[in-house]
Amino acid sequence: MSPTRTPDVLVVGGGIIGLVTAWRAAQRGLATALADPEPGGGAARVAAGMLAAVTELHHGEEDLLGLNLASARRYPDFAAELTELTGRDLGYRGCGTLAVALDADDRALLRELHALQQRSGLDSQWLSGRECRRLEPMLAPGVRGGLRVDGDHQIDPRRLAAALLTACERAGVTVHRTRAERLVVTGDRATGVVTSDGTGLDAGQVVLAAGSLSGRLAGVPADVLPPVRPVKGQVVRLTMPARHGPFLNRTVRAVVRGSHVYLVPRENGELVIGATSEEMGWDTTVTAGGVYELLRDAHELAPGITELPLTETTAGLRPGSPDNAPLLGPTALDGLLLATGHYRNGVLLTPVTGDVMAHVLTTGALPEVARPFTPRRFGAAVRTEQPA
Ligand code: GLY
Repeated sequence: MSPTRTPDVLVVGGGIIGLVTAWRAAQRGLATALADPEPGGGAARVAAGMLAAVTELHHGEEDLLGLNLASARRYPDFAAELTELTGRDLGYRGCGTLAVALDADDRALLRELHALQQRSGLDSQWLSGRECRRLEPMLAPGVRGGLRVDGDHQIDPRRLAAALLTACERAGVTVHRTRAERLVVTGDRATGVVTSDGTGLDAGQVVLAAGSLSGRLAGVPADVLPPVRPVKGQVVRLTMPARHGPFLNRTVRAVVRGSHVYLVPRENGELVIGATSEEMGWDTTVTAGGVYELLRDAHELAPGITELPLTETTAGLRPGSPDNAPLLGPTALDGLLLATGHYRNGVLLTPVTGDVMAHVLTTGALPEVARPFTPRRFGAAVRTEQPA
């Protein structure tokens, strides 16, 4: 893009959602810029990278399931395209997931999830405790049963973010390493932002994709400000020595005393244990209590974790929305679009979000798969594509 030309699109936020939006927009021929002081950062620095459309299914989230599955289906091609373009390994593994139960209550919960999965036409298989341990010998003897879901895969979100940044740069996206402080509205249209150093960045369309910070951009009219809130997640990283073979072969997860815990083993030896879920505002402190809770619950699942080196503790902020689903597409303010509120599914929803946003930026209309996720559902009037 020529430095003097006003870009067609300015993306505010360089996490994985902002980056994929910018990359796909640039691929469609739109002159695209992005503003973020630390592109490639955000919640993906912390996320474990489970692609868990089936094991994270919840009652009442059927529309979200459709979007999650649409994105999961895109993942193999998306990962292959990004790897080929950038030469980067994304740590994408089709290793499957095992959700296990430790007591009778957990088992009842998991049975309910299994029934919901079956009603939704999803592929999952009930296993006895013994069958779970045959698949994963490091599991505790007390595991009572589990659900094997071979279609729930994983990716390394840090590698994904780095590759998306490279892909953006190669596609000609202008990356401004600066913070967008205020939306500029001219007449009744969003026309750009002012950055923290006072620079004005103009654009034909502005996409607000700043994760949990999306509700905080000054200058956005109150009726289109996205209702996202930060939901803190603490995560622990351990290292699995290779010498005795893999510690775990696939992602293992459970609900222990009402808290979700998951163990995500990577091929590079990293074992990610996540995650707490805390409504603590903007606090990102790693606490003794959070780490204790994760290690205690993970230890109940796989007692051998206590032997592994502890390499990292982190905390990040998920962008939660009132219905746990993302906000995608135009707002009531012309020229302002949203790609935010992905909550627990940001990594999974990255491929479909890129496609949806590129479609809406080039045509002005939301594709079918994204219509339930229009920001209009929270009160703002927007345009959507009319059925043919
Ligand atoms: N999807 C996992 C999490 O948000 O913790």
